[in-house]
Amino acid sequence: MRWLVYGARPLYTAELAEVMARRGDSFAGAVDNMPTEELPNGRNVTDHDPAWLTPADVTSGGLDFDSIVLSAGPPGIRKVLRDELLARGVDCFGILIDPTATVASSATVAQGVTINAQVVVGAAAVLDEFVQINRSSSVGHHTRLSAFVTLGPGVTVASSVVLESGVFVGAGATVITRVTVGHNAIVGAGAVVTEDVPPFSLVVGNPARIVRTETTGYLGYTV
Ligand SMILES: CC(C)(COP(=O)(O)OP(=O)(O)OC[C@H]1O[C@@H](n2cnc3c(N)ncnc32)[C@H](O)[C@@H]1OP(=O)(O)O)[C@@H](O)C(=O)NCCC(=O)NCCS
Repeated sequence: MRWLVYGARPLYTAELAEVMARRGDSFAGAVDNMPTEELPNGRNVTDHDPAWLTPADVTSGGLDFDSIVLSAGPPGIRKVLRDELLARGVDCFGILIDPTATVASSATVAQGVTINAQVVVGAAAVLDEFVQINRSSSVGHHTRLSAFVTLGPGVTVASSVVLESGVFVGAGATVITRVTVGHNAIVGAGAVVTEDVPPFSLVVGNPARIVRTETTGYLGYTV
């Protein structure tokens, strides 16, 4: 398989390239089409590299690739990138799963999902479109990660949990059994979420407490 990375500025592109290498796949190129406005927190975005491909190259016919993968971590930015490609008539989004990950045969994995190394996805879990799961995270059985959800590294999501669309979960956080996290909510790194979380809120700590309501999504983008 030959992969084209779209939205290449985030450093996560390097992680996706490692996944491709472990699979024996090829890296066909990187298109930089991140949103141009300054992010509220630009720390995870490198400078523009003029060597990267442009969106026009995707439809030029001059590139040899089978599937596209979206690189950005913030759920709302991945949605912007997905919508740009759909507007160009491009929808060959692949499913990129690291060979060291274990995904239950009864799990459902939608278009555009990426799963990094050492992830475990349990029985009857549902991963909706463009979910991104970082390394060493665990998704419990009968849990649903809705569209564009992002799990940072080392996250534990227990069984029968629902993370609604656009939720971002920071590194090392835990979400316990049967909790629902509302759409576009943000779970801080290391939080232990024991109760339902309202949409658009930010929760941190153990047990997790709401420190902000009515956020505008992780890094200022909603799904
Ligand atoms: C939760 C998070 C998104 C908040 O970022 P932010 O909007 O810039 O918020 P602030 O830094 O202004 O923090 C707000 C308050 O919450 C506290 N806080 C922030 N993150 C916290 C966390 N993870 N645990 C406990 N407290 C936290 C801050 O100390 C601050 O408290 P104060 O108001 O008493 O000073 C961020 O801290 C975080 O945890 N990001 C996760 C990043 C990550 O794991 N990425 C993985 C991809 S590699």
